[in-house]
Amino acid sequence: MILVTGATGALGTLIAERLADRDDTVLGTRAPQQPRRLPVRHIDFDEPGTLSKGFEGVDVLLLISAGYGEDDTVIARHGAAVDAAEKAGVGHVVYTSLTAAGDHLPYALPHRWTERRLQETAMNWTILRNGLYAELLGGLAAPTADGRITAPLGGGRLAAVARADLADAAVRVTTEAPAHARRIYELVGEQAIGGADLARTHGPHVTYEPETLAQARARVAASGAEPFQIPMLVGTCSAIAAGFMSRTGGDLRQLLGRAPRSALAAAFA
Ligand SMILES: NC(=O)c1ccc[n+]([C@@H]2O[C@H](COP(=O)([O-])OP(=O)(O)OC[C@H]3O[C@@H](n4cnc5c(N)ncnc54)[C@H](OP(=O)(O)O)[C@@H]3O)[C@@H](O)[C@H]2O)c1
Repeated sequence: MILVTGATGALGTLIAERLADRDDTVLGTRAPQQPRRLPVRHIDFDEPGTLSKGFEGVDVLLLISAGYGEDDTVIARHGAAVDAAEKAGVGHVVYTSLTAAGDHLPYALPHRWTERRLQETAMNWTILRNGLYAELLGGLAAPTADGRITAPLGGGRLAAVARADLADAAVRVTTEAPAHARRIYELVGEQAIGGADLARTHGPHVTYEPETLAQARARVAASGAEPFQIPMLVGTCSAIAAGFMSRTGGDLRQLLGRAPRSALAAAFA
């Protein structure tokens, strides 16, 4: 049996749609009362009591990272999930991690911690080092009503990847898990895009006028963001601006068996 955690999140929803016709798959979510096409189990990494029952009979666990929080919060969540998977006799954990290029990002540490924890288990594992979503870049660099993109990306570009491609890759690996045991896949896009590319694609009425990181930090702080979200958002832009996120290539095309979707199109979806 396959179990997918985080099933009502954006990535989990795409994955659940792709697995909807299977009779060996259940969805795990903190909101099990919502009707779904597949059977649903209550899974909340913050409530380890849900995990022992939730992981019963599971052969392959697709562990979607629950990355919103301080590092200690996220490590506790992922640690509880891996502990419970071991105890329940899960055979293989597929984990949605972060691209190697993301080591400069403020939220990299819990991903690397989880990778290490998995590699220490007797279970089989596969690590999907997901690149940053094109949709995330589209949100960070959305034009204002007067047609200005003001994200602090400088001249930096991101090897952005459509979330739907990461869902396709995760489904392939999860449904063919034994063939991917003990593999780490680097899943970044094939096209690096930045603020000027986004502005050009919007049309001549949109211009790219990069702001400074200090300006962005003040803007995000004033938006009511949680304290942990401010370095997340600013740090993401900083890493892109400094040129750490632009490397293309990796394993995406091979796992998809086709060309990746257009990152620019996904950024506007
Ligand atoms: N590569 C990127 O660009 C990027 C960008 C943002 C985030 N991420 C990471 O990738 C993950 C999936 O992305 P996404 O787009 O699907 O994010 P999302 O739409 O925010 O969904 C995240 C899901 O994580 C699950 N979750 C949160 N707290 C949990 C907990 N305590 N126990 C169990 N599950 C929990 C929730 O699923 P339920 O509500 O169904 O329980 C939530 O909907 C994120 O959680 C984050 O770690 C990656």
